[in-house]
Amino acid sequence: MNKIVEKEYFSEKIVKIVVEAPLIAKSRKPGNFVILRVGEKGERIPLTIAGADVERGTIDLVVQKMGVSSTKVCDLEVGEYITDLVGPLGKPTEIHNLGTILCCGGGVGNAPLLPIVEAYKKAGNKVITILAARNKDLIILEDEMRKHSDELIIMTDDGSYGKKGLITEGMEEVIKREKIDECVTIGPAIMMKFCSLLTKKYEIPTVASLNSIMVDGTGMCGACRVTVGGKTKFTCVDGPEFDAHQIDFEEMMSRLGGYKKEEVDKFDQFQK
Ligand code: FES
Repeated sequence: MNKIVEKEYFSEKIVKIVVEAPLIAKSRKPGNFVILRVGEKGERIPLTIAGADVERGTIDLVVQKMGVSSTKVCDLEVGEYITDLVGPLGKPTEIHNLGTILCCGGGVGNAPLLPIVEAYKKAGNKVITILAARNKDLIILEDEMRKHSDELIIMTDDGSYGKKGLITEGMEEVIKREKIDECVTIGPAIMMKFCSLLTKKYEIPTVASLNSIMVDGTGMCGACRVTVGGKTKFTCVDGPEFDAHQIDFEEMMSRLGGYKKEEVDKFDQFQK
């Protein structure tokens, strides 16, 4: 059982929890994730590790209230326990000194993006980060991102903060201005799809971190399968990061929506 030692609300629906997990804190790398459950019969939720404190033996997880399981995690208070937590899982991000990296995060995707931004900067790259969300309240980890980026651009759909517009508009402005050697995108699948289409047009190598549905997290169940370059890959063991230009985003989005009705029904029952 892993104890929650800190909790912070980024917004009404986005919560950061700091969880005791000394072994994971010691061995995690940017891009790694954990799978956790709340309750013996709880659904397994994959969450990328947003940060870690080796001295304290803790990891940071950022959760957005979406359905029953994520709400149960968000409702846990300091001093309470996560029933089980497995990790670090997945392949870490390949970090090299490439030149200029454009890091693009959407909504809660900013949490897994943070350690990647940090690592690229540490490796000597120039890092330009774009954070995007529907509105100001959904922009998270701005100060932390600013600390590790050479430039930070905020985009909101409604113009309530930063520049008004979609993430791709901010990206294109940067791409037209300077040479980008690699792009990383993490956020909703639809956002990653359009980021990827844009960078494909400009022939910029791009990596996307996928948030597929997961069950075992060890390559056994097939729940997280995606098609990359025409081949079946498992997000949990082959990813979560893939060459964005090779990902079949349409198939991925249709698989993500496969249980929508059941999720909505369950959430309605949960709220009653
Ligand atoms: Fe089961 Fe990836 S979660 S194969």
